[in-house]
Amino acid sequence: MSVATEYRLPNGQRLKNRIAKAAMTEGLAGSDGLPNAGHETLYRRWAEGGCGLLLTGNVVIDRLHRERPGNVVVNGPLSAEAKAAWARWAAASTANGTQAWVQISHAGRQTQKNVNPHPKAPSAVALALPGGQFGMPDPLTDAEIADIIAGFAQAAVVARDAGFTGVQIHAAHGYLLSQFLSPLANRRNDDWGGRLEDRARLLTEIVTAVRAAVGKDFTVAVKLNSADFQKGGFDFEDCQIVAGWLTDLGVDCLELSGGTYEQPAMMDMDGLTPREEPKQQSTRAREAYFVQLATALLVAKTPPLMVTGGFRSLAAMDDAIANGISLIGVGRPLCAQPACVADLLAGAMEELPRFEANLAIGPGWLRPLLGPASPIKLLRTLNGFAAQAWYYQQLRRLAAGGPATAQGTWQAFLAEQRENKARI
Ligand SMILES: Cc1cc2nc3c(=O)[nH]c(=O)nc-3n(C[C@H](O)[C@H](O)[C@H](O)COP(=O)(O)O)c2cc1C
Repeated sequence: MSVATEYRLPNGQRLKNRIAKAAMTEGLAGSDGLPNAGHETLYRRWAEGGCGLLLTGNVVIDRLHRERPGNVVVNGPLSAEAKAAWARWAAASTANGTQAWVQISHAGRQTQKNVNPHPKAPSAVALALPGGQFGMPDPLTDAEIADIIAGFAQAAVVARDAGFTGVQIHAAHGYLLSQFLSPLANRRNDDWGGRLEDRARLLTEIVTAVRAAVGKDFTVAVKLNSADFQKGGFDFEDCQIVAGWLTDLGVDCLELSGGTYEQPAMMDMDGLTPREEPKQQSTRAREAYFVQLATALLVAKTPPLMVTGGFRSLAAMDDAIANGISLIGVGRPLCAQPACVADLLAGAMEELPRFEANLAIGPGWLRPLLGPASPIKLLRTLNGFAAQAWYYQQLRRLAAGGPATAQGTWQAFLAEQRENKARI
């Protein structure tokens, strides 16, 4: 068995191979929050590019809680025109026998200030990041929480009716559901905070509402952190328990990732990003940094697992499959080479490109001071955002039908600032 072999989810959904394009926010929507021709071009290229499954980037359920300007938004019932736009996006994404799931999200306190200076979150705990990009959040009321649950269910129905073949509820990376799970961000002592069961209530109620809305045959997946990698945050023990609850709720696939904006473990940066909890040597040595935790999760109760983060070689992917992982997620390589998975599977490429190895602000000789491992936290944060901007710029180029760009990291950062302003 290898990543090239087909995979059937327990609900019968058939994936032609076990490589999934991981969710990557596109930033392409205009002020109407709808998918457009750029989305269609981008997803058709990816669908033709060899993956068995495509996950969309964050589709948010509230315009005031986009994780960036340019997110697709589902905020209330769709007009006939909007439904048609969604159907075109779904058709492009499912071309070439590809499955395509919509990732549904709410950014909570990770909403940038330029979108909303006072976002809603579990508690009034601001992100501990330099740069002033995120405002102090306001705690959600019970009625607002009920609206959020209904919003996830409504977005799932929109995805299903458009022709997507599943949804993924985003409960990782420090966005709203991940904030509720974290004792650091969730200081509530009502039904939605305190012990793990209460911190996980928003997630479990959303899963229940989504399932009730889409029916039992439609794929409902969840993306969850293996850990936040922050002292006192959501940890692996919590993850194991929540995975068991999600199994009981009939979740079809669990994608395991890790980290938050404050501790971006999902991007790993080849071990360059300093951590509060240093990684074990054995984990550092591995190419795919969440595989060990995922394998440990398999001994307990869990839905079929997808693992994302760092996979670049067939050997590492096949190794993970041999260890019981069902699907392998791939992100950054697909930002600039949309068909690299087909090339890898055909043997035309030894391993997927590692763009992350070269993305840093400033010239090479100043890397120790300015680069991703800089002793200055502001510069480390800036490097993270600049590298991210480079990927965003690549996605814009692919969506316009062009090749990837040779733009430098700093140029990409500045270009992205301009693009975002134009989309607020
Ligand atoms: C440009 C970009 C956008 C991303 N957007 C999302 C997103 O919308 N939702 C999400 O869950 N993860 C997002 N991620 C994280 C990826 O899904 C993935 O976890 C991460 O890139 C690590 O996988 P990789 O090493 O194969 O790139 C994004 C990553 C990149 C590079």
